[in-house]
Amino acid sequence: MAVLVLRWIFSLLTVIIISQSVCLIYNTSYSHNIGYAMTDTFYQLHCNKLREQFSSDIIKPAKRINIMKFTQDVSNFMNCPYRSNTSERELNKIRLNLYCNATGSLFLTKHNTAVNEEMPYETNMELTHKIDEELHKMLPEDFPWTSGGLGRCAVVGSGGILQNSSCGPEIDSADFVIRFNLAPVNDSDVGVKTHLVTINPSQIEKNYDLNQDTDPLVKHVSMYGNAHLILPAFSYLPNTKYAMTALQALRPIRPQQPVVFFSPSYLRNLDKFWKLRGLKEIRLSTGFMLINVALELCEDVHVYGFWPFDIDPQQRQVPHHYYDDRGPSRRKHRMPEEFLRLLRMHSQGALTLHLQPCTA
Ligand SMILES: *[C@@H]1O[C@H](CO)[C@@H](O)[C@H](O)[C@H]1NC(C)=O
Ligand SMILES: *[C@@H]1O[C@H](CO)[C@@H](O)[C@H](O)[C@H]1NC(C)=O
Ligand SMILES: *[C@@H]1O[C@H](CO)[C@@H](O)[C@H](O)[C@H]1NC(C)=O
Ligand SMILES: *[C@@H]1O[C@H](CO)[C@@H](O)[C@H](O)[C@H]1NC(C)=O
Repeated sequence: MAVLVLRWIFSLLTVIIISQSVCLIYNTSYSHNIGYAMTDTFYQLHCNKLREQFSSDIIKPAKRINIMKFTQDVSNFMNCPYRSNTSERELNKIRLNLYCNATGSLFLTKHNTAVNEEMPYETNMELTHKIDEELHKMLPEDFPWTSGGLGRCAVVGSGGILQNSSCGPEIDSADFVIRFNLAPVNDSDVGVKTHLVTINPSQIEKNYDLNQDTDPLVKHVSMYGNAHLILPAFSYLPNTKYAMTALQALRPIRPQQPVVFFSPSYLRNLDKFWKLRGLKEIRLSTGFMLINVALELCEDVHVYGFWPFDIDPQQRQVPHHYYDDRGPSRRKHRMPEEFLRLLRMHSQGALTLHLQPCTA
């Protein structure tokens, strides 16, 4: 009897010691200078638990997440060792290639589009646009990239967490860099290298009067060197006019910088692909679309500036974008739902999310 009681007291003590060291690990965000011999084991156990939690098949709706606990968990998880999974990467490439085929149909080319083809719009297939000979002549010959052929890619979102991140040099060391909405570039935080950059047709509508003066747009896009400029010309009806004026304005002046149009069928297939996987939103964000493009075309995908919350993983206030604090896009897109998918792919070893400053 006495032995049993002693055993019981002993295990109670062990539980107390264990839970205290777990708390300690939490509070110090895994700094390795704690004197506990067992720290590494707990650290590993905790990392495994977080990895399991974030890679789970069951994704809780974002609005039911306790944001304080969530950011703390994400912050701890980002300090855990990253585990790449080559077979998961290959599987994603194959799935995306079979279902959506960015390699061959990401944007319209002379090869994948016929003269006088009636192009159905992405968001409304009853609306079509006839690709006349004049437009067909301006399409690029063929798709320049192959599946997996782009090496290490950096997809640079516009999230405020990139402000003061010092991630510029790391981003510039990638083989291929994707940016969004003509966002500004600079050496320190976001890098300057660019291979593909999106233009939102509403930016052409609001910021440029191309019938009057093409110089401001020409000056702005030359910031990206010879990067491809991509527009969703056939997603919504009003987009077409602005995409066409941008193409007509830039083509003669900057022939070295291709202006291309997203293929509406690619975007539609990608949308279906994610709807089948439980992502219920009106339309995917452009950022999420191009991360999927990268998963198919790149060997290794690094994601920066995707963090759809007002506080960063260290619970500090962050602006909406790294270059300004405007925009209702957080409500328009269900960014947190997309973010949970990105976090899941990170924990499965399919891509790498960067949420911390680059010189830690
Ligand atoms: C890597 O991914 C494959 C395919 O999803 C999976 O079966 C395997 O368990 C993963 N390996 C590890 C170590 O998680
Ligand atoms: C993807 O598109 C290219 C070019 O149109 C085509 O050659 C290839 O067969 C397509 N791949 C799949 C898996 O459908
Ligand atoms: C970045 O640094 C500037 C200047 O030190 C500061 O005003 C700003 O608040 C910082 N931004 C973030 C998100 O830390
Ligand atoms: C980098 O660009 C951002 C956005 O334009 C700006 O806020 C920041 O001050 C710039 N940093 C430097 C060092 O130029």
